Amino acid sequence: MAITICGAVPLIIAYFRSSKTTKANQFDESEGSSRESMNGEKQPESERRTSVISSLSDNAASNTSLVRKHTFTIPVTTDTFSYSSVRVFHRQHPKAPKLGRSLPLLVFLHGLGGQLSQFQHLLEYFVHISHTLAIDLPGCGGSKFAPHDWQAYTTESLCKLISVIVRQHVQEGQKVVLIGHSYGSALAATLATKGGFLYEECAGVVAICPKAELADQENKKLATALKLGNFGFDILRMIDRWGGIESKSVSRFVGAQAPVSVKQMQLLFNKQSRTPVWRRMVKGMTFPTLEQWTAITCPVYLLGAAEDMVCPVSELDKIHDWLMHRRDNKHEGASGQAESPAVKRCVIPNAGHSVIYESHHIVNGLVNDFLSHHVDEALSLVWQLSFLKEDKWLLKNLEKWSRIQAVSPRIGRSPFRAMKTLRQNDEQHSPKFFSAKYPDIAHVVDISHEQPPYDPETFGPNVQYHKFATVSKIPPTPDEVSRFIALVDKLRAEMFALGDNRLIACHCHYGFNRTGFFLVSYMIERLGYDVAQAITEFKKARPPGIRHPHFITELFERYDCPGLRRPSFS
Ligand SMILES: *[C@@H]1O[C@H](CO)[C@@H](O)[C@H](O)[C@H]1NC(C)=O
Ligand SMILES: *[C@@H]1O[C@H](CO)[C@@H](O)[C@H](O)[C@H]1NC(C)=O
Repeated sequence: MAITICGAVPLIIAYFRSSKTTKANQFDESEGSSRESMNGEKQPESERRTSVISSLSDNAASNTSLVRKHTFTIPVTTDTFSYSSVRVFHRQHPKAPKLGRSLPLLVFLHGLGGQLSQFQHLLEYFVHISHTLAIDLPGCGGSKFAPHDWQAYTTESLCKLISVIVRQHVQEGQKVVLIGHSYGSALAATLATKGGFLYEECAGVVAICPKAELADQENKKLATALKLGNFGFDILRMIDRWGGIESKSVSRFVGAQAPVSVKQMQLLFNKQSRTPVWRRMVKGMTFPTLEQWTAITCPVYLLGAAEDMVCPVSELDKIHDWLMHRRDNKHEGASGQAESPAVKRCVIPNAGHSVIYESHHIVNGLVNDFLSHHVDEALSLVWQLSFLKEDKWLLKNLEKWSRIQAVSPRIGRSPFRAMKTLRQNDEQHSPKFFSAKYPDIAHVVDISHEQPPYDPETFGPNVQYHKFATVSKIPPTPDEVSRFIALVDKLRAEMFALGDNRLIACHCHYGFNRTGFFLVSYMIERLGYDVAQAITEFKKARPPGIRHPHFITELFERYDCPGLRRPSFS
C-alpha cells in the first residue's frame, strides 16, 4: 500500500521545472495501460552487473516456470460483474490421492498493487504440501483490467470474485485455507468471517503483514491522492521510483538489509501495478472490523515483519489484541463452551513488507508449522513422507540408487559437488548425517521435480536447502538454466560476503544427467570452461557423467556452434 507517496506532492512542482520532459511521454498513456517497459530503461554498467547476479530484471524471472506452467486465464462472472480475463494459478498436490484423505486448498491472495507471482517462493514450497490456488486480482499481474466499473473493485466485489473462483476449484466438503499478504489479509478475513462468502469452507486464515484499519490521516492522504487522476498519480509514482532500486518506492517495502535481487523484484512489482486499478481498489477498500475478525471461527495466524513500514507490526498487534480479547470474553462467560480456535502471532526480524520474497524460507517454515499444528496434521511434510514411504517407485529403484556414489568430489575448480537425492531414513545418505559427513557443503540445491524423499528441515543449521524444480528427461530450457545460474550466483555472492568458501551440492534423483547439465552450463557460462572441458570435468568427478545424448547435444548446440553434433572427446 503505497500510501506515503502523497508525501511527494511538492516534488511534482520540481518535476515540471526539470528539463527531462521527454520522460513524461511514457506516462501519457490511456487508462489501463500505464505500465512502463522494463527494458526501456537505461541502467548504468555497475547496476547492470548486479542485475546479472540476481537476474531478476526480466519478467520471466519473476514468474518461475512452476508459476507459468500452472497459470491460466479464465473469465469469471459473479452476480454483479463479469471479469473478462482473470489469471489463476492452480495445482493439485500430485501425491494427494495416495495420502488417503482430503487436503485443504491453500488460497493465496496478494495485496494492493501486487500480483500472484509475489507468492512464487511460497507456491514452490506449498505445491509439495497441498493443493494450491493463487489469483491475480482483476487488473493485477496477468489479469485484464476489465471491467472498468469502480464498483467491481470494492472489497465486497473482490471477495465475491475470489469465492466464485475458489468454489470452482474445491470438491464437495473440501476445506480451504486463506493466505493473504497485506490487503490480501483483509480479503481473507472478510471471506472467512461469519457471514463471509467462504465462512463454511474456511479452515484457517494466515494474515501476512495485515493492516488493521486506516487512520484518519491515511484516509485523508488517500482521498487527496484519488483526486489527482491517473496522470497526476502516475507522475507521483514515477517520482517515488526515482533512484530505481534505491528509491523510496522500494525502500518502503523491503528491509534495510535486503539484497539487490529483492529490491529489483520489488521495483518490478511496483512498476507493474496499474494506476487506474490501484485507484479503484483504494476507493473501494474496507478493512474487516473488530467484530469481523472476532467472528472468524477457524485458527488465525498473524505473521508480521519487524521492519515493515507499510503495515507496521503495531497493526498486526491491534488485530491480535482484538482476537485475544474475544478469547478472554468467551472464557469469562461460558466455561463449558468449545475452546476458541488458535490465534498465533509471529514477527520475522530483518524483513520489510516484502517478507514473502525477502525471507520466504522462514515464511514457508512458519506457515507450514502453523498449518500442520493447527489446521491439519496432514499438511506436515514429515507426516506425508511417513505415509508415502511405501512409494513403489522408490522401492523399485532403491537398488540402483544404493549402488550410486552418494556425493562426488569437487568438480574441477567449480564450487560444486554432484550427488544423488537423500532419503529421510537412509543409514548413510540422509539429512541427519549430511552436515557431519560433508562439512564443506553449505548449500543443497534440489533440482528434482517432486517433493524430495526427505525433510529439508532436518539438515540442521549448517546446510541451506534450495528447491529448484525442473522436469526430468528433457534438457533444461535456457530460461531454467539462466535462473539456476542466477541462484548459484546469489549463493556464491552471499558466501563470498561472509568469507565462506564451502561448496554447493546439487542433486536431481541420481545426480547425473540433469544435475550434470546444470553444473556444466554454469561452468561454461561463469567459470570459463569450454563445453567439452566442462563435460569431461564433470565426468571425471562423477563417472559415467552425463549420458543422455540429447543433453550432450543440447549443450554443444547451445554453447558451441548451432547444429554441431556430438564430437569425440574422452
Ligand atoms: C507474470 O506473468 C504475467 C502473465 O504473463 C504478466 O502479466 C506479469 O507481468 C508477470 N509478472 C512479472 C513480475 O513479471
Ligand atoms: C542418463 O541418461 C541415459 C540415457 O538416456 C540413461 O540411460 C541413464 O539411465 C540416465 N542416468 C541415470 C542415472 O538415470
